[in-house]
Amino acid sequence: MRKKVTIVGAGNVGATAAQRIFERGYADVVLVDVVEGLPQGKALDMLQSGPVVGSNAGILGTNSYEETANSDLVVITAGIARKPGMSRDDLLLTNMKIVKDVTMNVVRHSPECIIIVVSNPLDAMAQLALEISQFPRNRVLGMSGILDAARFRSFVAELVGVSVQDVSACILGGHGDSMVAVPRLSTVGGIPLTDLLSTSAIDQIVKRAVNGGAEIVSLLKTGSAYYAPSAAVAEMVDSIILDKKRILPCAVYLKGEYEIHGLFVSVPVKLGSTGLEEIQVLELNEQEHAALRKSAAAVKELVDIMRLKGGLHPMPS
Ligand code: NAI
Ligand code: 2OP
Repeated sequence: MRKKVTIVGAGNVGATAAQRIFERGYADVVLVDVVEGLPQGKALDMLQSGPVVGSNAGILGTNSYEETANSDLVVITAGIARKPGMSRDDLLLTNMKIVKDVTMNVVRHSPECIIIVVSNPLDAMAQLALEISQFPRNRVLGMSGILDAARFRSFVAELVGVSVQDVSACILGGHGDSMVAVPRLSTVGGIPLTDLLSTSAIDQIVKRAVNGGAEIVSLLKTGSAYYAPSAAVAEMVDSIILDKKRILPCAVYLKGEYEIHGLFVSVPVKLGSTGLEEIQVLELNEQEHAALRKSAAAVKELVDIMRLKGGLHPMPS
């Protein structure tokens, strides 16, 4: 029997992620949105692509959660996206209400699912989903690190003139302006980036990766990136549904790892059929550690605002 993957939010990221997962064929997909007709129309269109792309999977669009019942995995992309001049953090109060409502509906119908949060500001929304769902931390993850690392990898590959497949990137921290690139642990064919490129070349790539989302927003003008984000979502879904046990940078709730307590930030983790299976703790130097602490502090500011405004449930013990 095929697995069941629900995607909440049939906008740019949600619909594109639905398409990528539907085309893989290993899971039936349910696409949910509040806008009447939108998920139904997109799902029907994707279903009719099945004979051409060779997918026998099912795909259904709906405005209710009944059809999502007993999903194995739920991806939350519902919410507003930023426009030029807005930071991800500007989305906090609007998306907090949406993600809270969506999470309650998801949990009611799929109490055993694994949740991947995409809505921004990512780390705060993942924490909200964890607290509202009261799921164990292995079943609530955030997508950001794969995207931030992919941006970094593509810029390095372009500059060095090598395949993107041979570039690995170490990006840690919150999905925001304080994200932490670690060039010392990023490699081209196993060679540390710091041995290959000048400090100023590396700095420029780091800066462009950190501003990667804003660069696309300023070009699109009416929304934010979705091709690379949906590809990153699909990579996480692959690893979980197919139990691939990939090591991927994902936002997870840290309980003392990296000396961070009770916050989501992106770190390398093993993803398998039970969700988060292991957190990899890298040996960071003092400067890298300090940058990660600063990034976690920026996430905490948002979580504190949510606690004031959102009436969050107490944390599961
Ligand atoms: P979009 O505006 O194209 O789609 C959002 C969809 O959510 C809309 O179709 C809307 O009707 C729906 N929606 C709103 N409230 C809902 C509710 N209560 N229940 C179900 N659906 C609801 O936006 P896009 O580009 O798809 O981005 C979605 C979110 O993902 C944004 O918050 C964006 O900032 C975030 N994002 C995060 C990334 C990451 O790396 N974590 C990367 C890209 C986007
Ligand atoms: C991005 O980085 C908007 O978070 C989204 O493109």
